[in-house]
Amino acid sequence: MAFGHDKIEKNIGLMIVLVVIVISIGGLVQIVPLFFQQSTTEAVAGLEPYTPLRLAGRDIYIREGCYLCHSQMIRPFRAETERYGHYSVAGEFVYDRPFQWGSKRTGPDLARVGGRYSDEWHRVHMINPRDVVPESIMPGYPWLEETPADARHISRKLEVLRTLGAPYTDAQIANAAAELEGKTEMDAIIAYLQGMGTAIKTRR
Ligand code: HEC
Repeated sequence: MAFGHDKIEKNIGLMIVLVVIVISIGGLVQIVPLFFQQSTTEAVAGLEPYTPLRLAGRDIYIREGCYLCHSQMIRPFRAETERYGHYSVAGEFVYDRPFQWGSKRTGPDLARVGGRYSDEWHRVHMINPRDVVPESIMPGYPWLEETPADARHISRKLEVLRTLGAPYTDAQIANAAAELEGKTEMDAIIAYLQGMGTAIKTRR
């Protein structure tokens, strides 16, 4: 048989090795360029790094496990863009470490929820979702309203994010804790939600 193909077909060990090599080359060709493409590594126009308050809100979102029921990733399908707005693009997530794309939609996708409701709606909804959406199965988070936003490590967090590429200024880092003064965790998570997906303003 040509090229000794019969040898490969009769030797499963050799077959496995060759299959792995072929798949690896295919993978590298697809994945490696993504690390160097501008559209996947550079922020979309208008995207700002998280303010201290929004960053604190993001940490609460992660702590409370919101990602277990909510995704932040609108796929480029008609059914999704009709409901949520412009599909998500890689450049919207460059300051998200780690990103909160999620994989479970018990609740709606939140990637473009920013600006869709008032702060007051969110406050009522977060304390007891049933007060605004009677059929909701989302749990309430009333303690956020009573817990002060944690300012202890916020400057340090900004510093670390700066080393990873977020363009914070020295002044922003120095004033980070002051921005959280007098704020509750509820203020922080609402600030986070209200900023979501607003860099691309093509929502219907
Ligand atoms: C057990 C699953 C579950 C968890 C956990 C959960 N949610 Fe929800 N969420 C839902 C469901 C279901 C809805 C749709 C009904 C409603 O609006 O309450 C919803 C709706 C929402 C909405 C309104 C979205 C829209 O477009 O109308 C927001 C905002 C929201 N959730 C934020 C959060 C945040 C922030 C957290 C974490 C603190 C969280 N959710 C945790 C299930 C969940």
